[in-house]
Amino acid sequence: MCGIVGYVGRDRGQGSSVLDSVAPAVDQESADGQHGALDVVMEGLRRLEYRGYDSAGVAVITADGIESRKKAGKLTNLVEELAADPLPRSLTGIGHTRWATHGGPTDQNAHPHLADGGKLALIHNGIIENYAELKAELTGEGLTFLSDTDTEVAAGLVGYLYRGLVESGAQGDLLTLALQQACQRLHGAFTLLAIHQDQPGTVVAGRRNSPLVVGLGDGENFLGSDVSGFIDFTRRAVELGQDQIVTITPDDVTITDFFGAPAEGTEFHVSWDAAAAEKGGFESFMEKEIHDQPDAVGQTLLGRSDVSGRLVLDELRIDESILRSVDKIVVLACGTSAYAGQVAKYAIEHWCRIPTEVELSHEFRYRDPIVNEKTLVVAISQSGETMDTLMAVRYAREQGAKVVAICNTNGSTIPRESDAVLYTHAGPEIAVASTKAFLAQITAAYLLGLYLAQLRGNKFRDEIADVLADLAEIPAKIQAILDDAEKIKQLGADMANAKSVLFLGRHVGFPVAMEGALKLKELAYIHAEGFAAGELKHGPIALIEEGQPVVVVMPSPRARDSLHAKVVSNVQEIRARGAVTIVIAEEGDTSVAAYSEHVFYVPASPTLLAPLLTTVPLQIFALALASAKGYDVDQPRNLAKSVTVE
Ligand code: F6R
Repeated sequence: MCGIVGYVGRDRGQGSSVLDSVAPAVDQESADGQHGALDVVMEGLRRLEYRGYDSAGVAVITADGIESRKKAGKLTNLVEELAADPLPRSLTGIGHTRWATHGGPTDQNAHPHLADGGKLALIHNGIIENYAELKAELTGEGLTFLSDTDTEVAAGLVGYLYRGLVESGAQGDLLTLALQQACQRLHGAFTLLAIHQDQPGTVVAGRRNSPLVVGLGDGENFLGSDVSGFIDFTRRAVELGQDQIVTITPDDVTITDFFGAPAEGTEFHVSWDAAAAEKGGFESFMEKEIHDQPDAVGQTLLGRSDVSGRLVLDELRIDESILRSVDKIVVLACGTSAYAGQVAKYAIEHWCRIPTEVELSHEFRYRDPIVNEKTLVVAISQSGETMDTLMAVRYAREQGAKVVAICNTNGSTIPRESDAVLYTHAGPEIAVASTKAFLAQITAAYLLGLYLAQLRGNKFRDEIADVLADLAEIPAKIQAILDDAEKIKQLGADMANAKSVLFLGRHVGFPVAMEGALKLKELAYIHAEGFAAGELKHGPIALIEEGQPVVVVMPSPRARDSLHAKVVSNVQEIRARGAVTIVIAEEGDTSVAAYSEHVFYVPASPTLLAPLLTTVPLQIFALALASAKGYDVDQPRNLAKSVTVE
């Protein structure tokens, strides 16, 4: 939540032609290679806008002091504001896109917030839990506040401490000192970035339980909530630890803890390039990301077995004897990632015979769960920053469990705080509604399940090789669905006026149904619910009335335990009560046509792998329906990509 960018560059002289009055989204570089702070910050905000779009703002240090512009609403509003009221040239700047927590999405509550008589500007991601107490204290010292935010209190505190240092005759980098002192007093989760007009050429940041990465340049350095904040300018990045302060100048990056003791970050290379985070000719990031899915699954499978077909997960650095003794697996995740976990549960229990629970991270630690040294926790998170999951991971580790993260984001917190990580290689996911990350998460969780089965001897090598071979065919099968998507797109568009859509599934189709419903809720803002098909008759069937659209994820007719026949019966039951059925069936399953108003076929696959295919038409359906309603599918209302508050 909230996107944060910071930039500082060296003045390379030579009459640098960095725009004197820059409107954003113009050339990022002048003829001599000099970046302007505003260009860099605005480009970073453009890429980070998926983290929050309630307001946006920037502040830069100019020859006349701090200058700031901020505006409620999407980034385009700030762009217009900057065009109407341009900022002067600068080489030091910070920028923010907001997902509102304290205080509504107004101009006044937008960041940056100013302090120390307008000489200091500060931006913030997270929640400062003791802000009310601090506000009362600072008000008692004569400070006044203009907004309803906790951020302005943090700005006030840093400004107050800065002034105190000046008045006590302190020397040196007072902004870093002031931020260190402020962070010692703050409770909650925060990333703070501050600039002060008396220290041009310096941006200082502090973090606790909230994301921040450093980008390393040549004569310039960057800060971002994640690497997309500076991916246009450098691929060299540094991940920071908890409770650290980082000070960037054009030529230096200095890291300390909150008490000034030297600390270190870990440098890493960002493997994806800026183009991977562009729309690539599609109308929305979501559409592009749906089309990225063959690659996302393919890349996640890549390089994970040796020449003899043995599964090799090099990253899984947990002692094999510990993995052999695991007697329970707990999958922790939220939202779409939790549905990926629910799909994986069927496969992991089947392959490994280890009892597997899937739990929403925010429910987990508050119910005194039974977790110990023999529990393997699998934390699934696209962003690697979801606060609920991070807190659950910490709790599980305190109880002695080993934690494997399944994550899509290098340098993020959850993998760093886990015992091991299995990265998904879906590439950057920008659209707020998750699509390719979901399929990549299922793929990675399957690899983990197969690996455990191999290690513990639950499956023979050739059995594992067979599943891997089936998995290897999935990308082409997804592509086939994408190539033949016109009919489902049309149906989505035709149903733009639907008030409610129900989704039914059974076995692995059940979490797929819930994921289909979630996509529709978040994109089209209509009532949508996913049910286990067998549960219908226990209550939900009362919802069925004439014309009620119901999407059914039909099991393969080849599947075990006559699931197919049972779901066909469910379809008949709801049709008898007026439902309009939309069935996702396996190619060759001709029996369903007689019971469905609309049928969409996906290529045949083993039952456990079917979710990697049946999910795709549901994503396309939700995208088409929401687009027909004229909604912004990349930035649905009230949501943010990375949920870094509890
Ligand atoms: C829905 C969606 C969310 C996320 C959830 C967890 O489309 O994207 O439900 O899946 O907020 O996020 P991560 O995976 O980043 O932990």
